[in-house]
Amino acid sequence: MDSRPIGIFDSGVGGLTVLKRLIEVLPKENYIYFGDTKRVPYGDKSREEIELFAGQIINFMIEKNVKAIVIACNTTCAVINKEKYKIKLFDVLKAGARSGILATRNKKVGVIATARTVESKSYEYAIKALDPVIEVYQKACPQFVPLIEEGLYNSILAYEAAKECLRDFNEYGIDTLILGCTHYPLMIEVINRVIGVGIKLVDPAIGLSQEILEYVKERGMENPTGGKIEFFVSGDEKNFKTIAKRLLGREIDEVFTVDIEKY
Ligand code: DGL
Repeated sequence: MDSRPIGIFDSGVGGLTVLKRLIEVLPKENYIYFGDTKRVPYGDKSREEIELFAGQIINFMIEKNVKAIVIACNTTCAVINKEKYKIKLFDVLKAGARSGILATRNKKVGVIATARTVESKSYEYAIKALDPVIEVYQKACPQFVPLIEEGLYNSILAYEAAKECLRDFNEYGIDTLILGCTHYPLMIEVINRVIGVGIKLVDPAIGLSQEILEYVKERGMENPTGGKIEFFVSGDEKNFKTIAKRLLGREIDEVFTVDIEKY
């Protein structure tokens, strides 16, 4: 047993889609969630900036005495050097690649993600490292994250943005589409409507949460008596709180603001 919390972070509200899955499989853990709402979106930032942001957040989490950290941000996973950290880091992008491989039958997989993730080709490398035969078609959808952060993930604007972004996938003949940004599951209804039947949508958080469950179980690191979540942001907390309440279906008493740049 290990009652220390699990840390989980993203550029904003996206990581909440991962937290939601984690709570389903590990409801008795304590969680520390950090959303970098001051510096969102990460998708158009440089590698160096994202590396710096991730380092600050990981330091903050370590100060909070977490037992492991979930990088609930594909863009961060795609560009940072994870080797330099001593603490256990869980990687949503690798989990997404594995889930995509398991889901495809015709070996044609689409990935939608931020510009930085697409440019890094991390999904392509991660998929091809495990199954070189799979064809990977990537597309950046830079309009999605700002809409989602504003809570407009079910709006007509979101629908128009999805139509625009997903158009190319018709020609590729994919049978699987990985939601390669943790914000995108918030838009799943709209994406589903646009992409149509016959294409499986993969939310990497499902595979990732199973991986974390196995990890803590195998090591006897579960917390059977917790269940507390603490929320921290670096900037706007109003939209964050509204979306978190809606998505997690629970009251959120307080969202604390952190001066993350000092870490
Ligand atoms: N949710 C993040 C991801 O999974 C980052 C989105 C952004 O800030 O651009 O990539």
